[in-house]
Amino acid sequence: MFTRLVCISDYEQHAKSILPKSIYDYYISGANDQETLADNVAAFSRWKLYPRMLRNVAEVDLSTSILGQRVSMPICAGATAMQCMAHEDGELATVRACRSLGTGMMLSSWSTSSIEEVAEASPETLRWLQLYIYKDREITKQLVQRAERKGYKAIFLTVDTPYLGNRFDDVRNRFKLPPQLRMKNFETNDLAFSPKENFGDNSGLATYVNKLIDPSINWEDIKWLRGLTSLPIVAKGILRGDDAREAVKHGLNGILVSNHGARQLDGVPATIDALPEIVEAVEGKVEVFLDGGVRKGTDVLKALALGAKAVFVGRPIIWGLASQGEKGVQDVLEILKEEFRLALALSGCQNVKVIDKTLVRKNPSAVSKI
Ligand code: LAC
Repeated sequence: MFTRLVCISDYEQHAKSILPKSIYDYYISGANDQETLADNVAAFSRWKLYPRMLRNVAEVDLSTSILGQRVSMPICAGATAMQCMAHEDGELATVRACRSLGTGMMLSSWSTSSIEEVAEASPETLRWLQLYIYKDREITKQLVQRAERKGYKAIFLTVDTPYLGNRFDDVRNRFKLPPQLRMKNFETNDLAFSPKENFGDNSGLATYVNKLIDPSINWEDIKWLRGLTSLPIVAKGILRGDDAREAVKHGLNGILVSNHGARQLDGVPATIDALPEIVEAVEGKVEVFLDGGVRKGTDVLKALALGAKAVFVGRPIIWGLASQGEKGVQDVLEILKEEFRLALALSGCQNVKVIDKTLVRKNPSAVSKI
């Protein structure tokens, strides 16, 4: 009998039971010893909620705005690459599920459906494009222009990937795309990470990054990107207050506190622990977002209490997709939405505007007594 999947970890276990091993490994992996991978989730438990009582929570409004655009809740689909590996409908299923929930989707540049296909599958859905800077700047420029033309509302520039992190299972599996797939935003086999191309004997994706992505990017390139588009640009992958301030100084419009799902530098802090320093550093000048380890409604509440405007979920979307395509993604987002609604209500909050930092405190037993 099919057991009901009632929480995100149910979806994860179900996805594991049906995905081919090398594909599950690609999605689940963190870098190296995966210290940060475990910590991204565990760190949320070190923050405790301090709810208010008797606040009339008969009606609870979850809606908010992201970079000036309304969303039904502060929970959005984060960029995860090559979603057609998880389900044949891939990114098209994700964008349609986001439409049903009234929330936004960040499309990976390394998607298996193109910028245009995703836009056309759901023109009215709030969409953003995640971006890498290629050695050949023209490639990056075209991605930005295509996104702008197709109504994407912001660019999320990944700043933590001059090289790809070392994921042991991808090396063991010699990770590459299945034969029928390619990164759909690109024409040539090498740019499209086509399995027809030889990407060597290690992680094929690491080879791809080494060959094509520019490890020399620096703040000067931010000026170049800023001049390319009038869309808001968010720096994705910031973990320090001084970097956040630098991003603001360079005209960026938001910070996504992220450690790339713990897939880049291992040993960095959990994102929920990195968040307060960054919120403090930007002094309300730009919106701050968070991804990494969000698996429950209470995680969302904790992130918002510590100053995030919204959170992005990555792997949970993949588990939903793998389990049941569009319906699975919709279920995953609905689970998070209803958990968040209950967390808000049980904390005495009628809406997201009344969430403040007094709602969370670091668990005293997790704070060093030295
Ligand atoms: C990864 C890249 C694609 O983490 O974001 O695999």
